[in-house]
Amino acid sequence: MREFIIKPVRSRENVMASLRGNWNYPTAVRFGPGRIGELADACKSLNLKRPLLVTDPALAKLPMIANAVAACRDAGLACEVFSELQANPVESNVTNGVAAYRRGTHDGVIAFGGGSALDTGKAVALMVGQTRPIWDFEDREDWYTRVNVAGMAPTIAVPTTSGTGSEVGRASVITDTRDHTKKIIFHPRMLPALVIADPELTLGLPPHVTAAVGMDALSHNLEAYCSPSYHPLAEGIALEGMRLIHDWLPAAVKDGSDIEARSHMMAASLMGATAFQKGLGAMHSLSHPCSANLNTHHGLTNAVVMPYVLAWNRPALEEKMVRLAAFLGLRRQSFEGVLEWILELRRAINIPNTLAELGVKDSHAEQFAPQAFEDPSTGGNPVPMTTEHFAALYRQCIQGQLSGI
Ligand SMILES: [Fe+2]
Repeated sequence: MREFIIKPVRSRENVMASLRGNWNYPTAVRFGPGRIGELADACKSLNLKRPLLVTDPALAKLPMIANAVAACRDAGLACEVFSELQANPVESNVTNGVAAYRRGTHDGVIAFGGGSALDTGKAVALMVGQTRPIWDFEDREDWYTRVNVAGMAPTIAVPTTSGTGSEVGRASVITDTRDHTKKIIFHPRMLPALVIADPELTLGLPPHVTAAVGMDALSHNLEAYCSPSYHPLAEGIALEGMRLIHDWLPAAVKDGSDIEARSHMMAASLMGATAFQKGLGAMHSLSHPCSANLNTHHGLTNAVVMPYVLAWNRPALEEKMVRLAAFLGLRRQSFEGVLEWILELRRAINIPNTLAELGVKDSHAEQFAPQAFEDPSTGGNPVPMTTEHFAALYRQCIQGQLSGI
């Protein structure tokens, strides 16, 4: 007798409802479409009465921010906006934000936006309680112990892109304009107390931005997975994060209104930043000097260097790539299979193939290599790196030469 399978009807309402959750690690996360409606309630749950909303100048002009501020004010909160910050934020953005915070006698920060706004907001929340310069809190040795924890402001993070994962990160990346280096400012309490992760806020992102930030999320999950330190929790999260990206990034780029794809990409972004407590690697080491000196987009730069770094690290990754390929259900369950997938994905979402296409020249290889070597991400690379290695790897990324393949 023939069996009939009755497929459940997946209405938009059912899909939306299935994509909600209240999570408690790595911090309190209210996840799901429409959750931005809970912003005022979130402020109240942290006892905030006068939050400073930190965002970027482009977002500040959009109804998304006006609506959020209006909702807070309607709920009796004295909410003001600070938006004097740039992509790849610098120290003066933080200093000006701290001044605005003190001027308005605020009692907490809502960091609202992409990576630059989130990182600036988190840094402002750190610096409102400090007397030392921000560079004293760089992620080196135990420098974070210099922080006056009692002076730090509580932070709510609201991401509007799916990539950086800064909303669940314990650091901010701030560019030091004195030597054009990106520095990681770190304290465990920089992890926002509460995150509102609402994928509807990402619906308006154009395809090229969705692609670039999505590849940043992939680089976090992939580098964390490849990093050699012992951390099975992070490794498990990274694997599932990569599966979500494998299954949903092309759909999110192709149809920005696909809320299911947008939701899974937002989750994958949170997962990448949760996983990279395990370590990052040479993708971020190579990328940071490009952004600090030439203002290239962080996620896009990571996406360009990704296959070259993977090929460079191949001697340490054969077995791990077999496991990853099996988990992703790739055609070839081998190192080549993973590399093939990444190259196909980059082509499908229109990522350039070489750093030359981002304006990086051969002469930059020698200039950037020492900065890449000094980058805190370098310690997590599965293959030990020297300055000379970085110069050689830069040349491969600039000229489009995949080594060892
Ligand atoms: Fe990143």
